[in-house]
Amino acid sequence: MATERTFSIIKPDATKRNLTGAVNAVIEEAGLRIVAQKRILMTRAQAETFYAVHSERPFFGELVDFMISAPVVVQVLEGENAIAKYREVMGATNPANAAEGTIRKKFALSVGENTVHGSDSAENAQIEIAQFFAGNDIVG
Ligand code: CMP
Repeated sequence: MATERTFSIIKPDATKRNLTGAVNAVIEEAGLRIVAQKRILMTRAQAETFYAVHSERPFFGELVDFMISAPVVVQVLEGENAIAKYREVMGATNPANAAEGTIRKKFALSVGENTVHGSDSAENAQIEIAQFFAGNDIVG
């Protein structure tokens, strides 16, 4: 298996509840390394660009409003098979369907306020990382 990098967001529902460290502990316990991280308040334009693939969905407006409602922590995670591994660690998008021990099972409030985002493919991981980090911001 190859060492990969994936992009993660700790979402406003988690930063508001002071859960950044608790989420990071689950990430690190799973063997993923946080190789870049910053806390930002996303602009509406950044959130709309990030979620452009969902722009036709009925929840798009709600999703963008939520993502700019409080700070988020954007991260690059590194490890063996990191993209699939992080999706496993996050759990299902809807916390009602998330497996025991996953971040969303532990912390998420609803399908919208679901605590974390993780890239769904290698191609999207590259695009998403590049939206928020320059190459020399990432130290493995
Ligand atoms: P994420 O992995 O960040 O990618 C798209 C996000 O859209 C997803 O997590 C959810 O937070 C959000 N989402 C998906 N379905 C719904 C829904 N039915 N209502 C509100 N938000 C949703």
